[in-house]
Formats: sequence, C-alpha cells, structure tokens
Amino acid sequence: MKKTARAHTNIALIKYWGKSDEMLHLPLMSSISMTLDAFYTDTSFERCPKANEDIFFLNDQRIEISKSQRVITYVHRLQNMFGLKEHFRIDSTNHVPTSAGLASSASAFAALAASFAKAYHLDCSLNELSRLARLGSGSASRSIFGGFVEWQKGHDNMDSFAIPINEAPKLDLCLLAVEVDAAPKKLASSVGMKKAQGSPFFPIWLKQNETEIAQMRTAIAHDDFDGIGKLAEQNANEMHAINLTARPGFTYFEPDTIKVIQLVHQLREEGIDCYYTIDAGPNVKILCQLRNHQIIQERLQKVLSHVKIVFAQFGPGITYLD
Ligand code: DP6
Repeated sequence: MKKTARAHTNIALIKYWGKSDEMLHLPLMSSISMTLDAFYTDTSFERCPKANEDIFFLNDQRIEISKSQRVITYVHRLQNMFGLKEHFRIDSTNHVPTSAGLASSASAFAALAASFAKAYHLDCSLNELSRLARLGSGSASRSIFGGFVEWQKGHDNMDSFAIPINEAPKLDLCLLAVEVDAAPKKLASSVGMKKAQGSPFFPIWLKQNETEIAQMRTAIAHDDFDGIGKLAEQNANEMHAINLTARPGFTYFEPDTIKVIQLVHQLREEGIDCYYTIDAGPNVKILCQLRNHQIIQERLQKVLSHVKIVFAQFGPGITYLD
C-alpha cells in the first residue's frame, strides 16, 4: 500500500536560526514563512512487511544506506513513536535545487511525514503533522501549510508546531529565487545555527525576533508589501550578521551574493520596490510585486548573465496524490 504526498518548500521571512533542543528541533525563536508554488517534493511511502531492508529512492536513484541515514533514522523514529515496526520503501522526487539554500529539507520532511501518516492511517491533525515534520527538519514544520505560516516556538515537543496565518493571501507578492551557486551548501543549517550561538549578539538576535514576529504579523494582516519586505530583509541581515560575528565568524555569502544585494539597493533607489532575503547558502531570494518581476529579472541578467532565476508565488499546503 503506497501513499504519496506533495509538500511545497517555504522561504522564511522571519528566520529560525538557533535551537534549544537539537534532537527535537525545538527552536529558540518563532518564525514566519511564505510557502512557494515553484518548489516542491513528491514522496511516496510504501509499507513493505515482507521485505528484508528499507529502501530509499531519490529522484529515481537508489540511495545507499550510508547516505540515507537521516531519512531512514527519521522514519524509524516515527515508527517507534507509534509502536510500528516493518520495512518500507520511500520514493522521493525533489523539484527543488537540493541543498542550494532553498531548504529542500523543508518540503522533503513535510512530504515524508504526510505520506507516512497516510500510509499508516494515522489520525493526525495538521498541527500534529507539523510536529512530526519538525522532527525531521525544523523548517519542514511550516511546509504543512500554504500561504503565510507561523511556526510558534512553544516550550516542548508537544506545543512547538506551525499554524497558518493566511493560507490564501490576496497580496501582490512574488519571489525571484536567484541561484548564484547550485553547489550543495558548505555548512549545514544545523551546524551553522549552532556556531552562530557563539556570537555576542545572539541574545540581541533573540530579543529582536520577538519584536519582528509581532511586526510581521501586523504587516501581513495589513497586506503591507513594503512592511513585509523591509522586515524580511532586516531579519535576514541580522541572521547573517550573527554568523559573521560568531567565534570564529563565518558567512554563506559569495561575491555574487553581494552583487545581487547591491542591485536590490540600486533598484530601490530607482523607485522599483524590492527586497532580498537569504537563507543558509549563497543564493538570494528577491521579494517583489508582479508588475516589477520582469524588469528585475532583466537587470539581474545584465549584472550576472550566468545565474538561474526561478519565479515563485504563494504555494499550497500538503496535498495527497493518491
Ligand atoms: C536559514 O530547517 O534546515 O532556512 O532543523 O536543523 O533541519 P534543521 O534546520 P533547517 O534550518 C532552516 C534555516 C533557515 C531559516 C528558516 O528556514 O527559518
């Protein structure tokens, strides 16, 4: 019996960057994201009681056990939670540039949690599903829902999950994902966020988060494009400042990352409203309005002719394909 779920990835507008519990992926701060239509993962989970091993296929390629530990261990963990034990097969197709800064782990673990729950007929609410996805990757908790989503940090495993803010926003907001480097990220998020805690500014980052979460909720409630963009850019800058000031400091930025940032500044000076945000990688996501996306794309291509640019809008929450 095979069950397939589709989850879209999300971009954090107010970032999760710090954990209070690594095993449970409990965050030190709440985060707010936008689910994206252009990037998603389809995952089938099949129960195989007669098989003698667990099998994982990614993009039609069998992944050897040593390279699929994160996924296999995650499923064993879910099985243990529900008192289940049998072999399984996972087939996952990623429509996300893997590890290139648009968290593919978000859509991957959200789709896996949902297909697992469906295959075992677990009676899970969406909030429970968000908790299960969180155990695979923190940002996956938000990919259960569409539109604008808030992952409320909570206090423990039971109350740390995402909730929808607005699943079908009417706001004119789109995103250009600028892939300046397609290589896998040099430093996994889990490692980066741990190092970042060594920054003397980390306590300020935590304090800022509370303010910015409240401000972002307000900006979303008022369909305030500029408010959302300014806050997202400010929050991303703060996250990357924490990285630079860790002991020792580090950065995900590459020279082309800076070129895109400078272009966004320049475009704003010319009166074209746009803002950037950057996750744990060198790639930049530009937030803009529909009427401006073409001109921004043309200007990007002039400065960086080799970059790949993907256009995205609001995406939906979890869907089931069978
Ligand atoms: C910068 O969710 O990938 O994208 O919980 O260790 O799997 P783990 O981390 P992950 O971190 C995402 C970090 C981020 C910001 C965000 O998405 O909120």
